[in-house]
Amino acid sequence: MYTCICNAIRETDLRLAACKTQGDAEAVYAAMGKRPNCGQCLEEANAIVEEEREMALMPVYAE
Ligand code: FES
Repeated sequence: MYTCICNAIRETDLRLAACKTQGDAEAVYAAMGKRPNCGQCLEEANAIVEEEREMALMPVYAE
């Protein structure tokens, strides 16, 4: 599923990039060599970036 239509950025690619970079969605886009155009995706993109980073910090429990 695409998060950013203008840049054809898929949610999975955004999540991967969020773990490798710092800053908000615009900073993550920049690290991907993109920049916002219409800006309609930024609220959702910021939520995805935050969610991905929070999940990356969660401990993994083994049974
Ligand atoms: S949908 Fe992302 S900049 Fe337009």
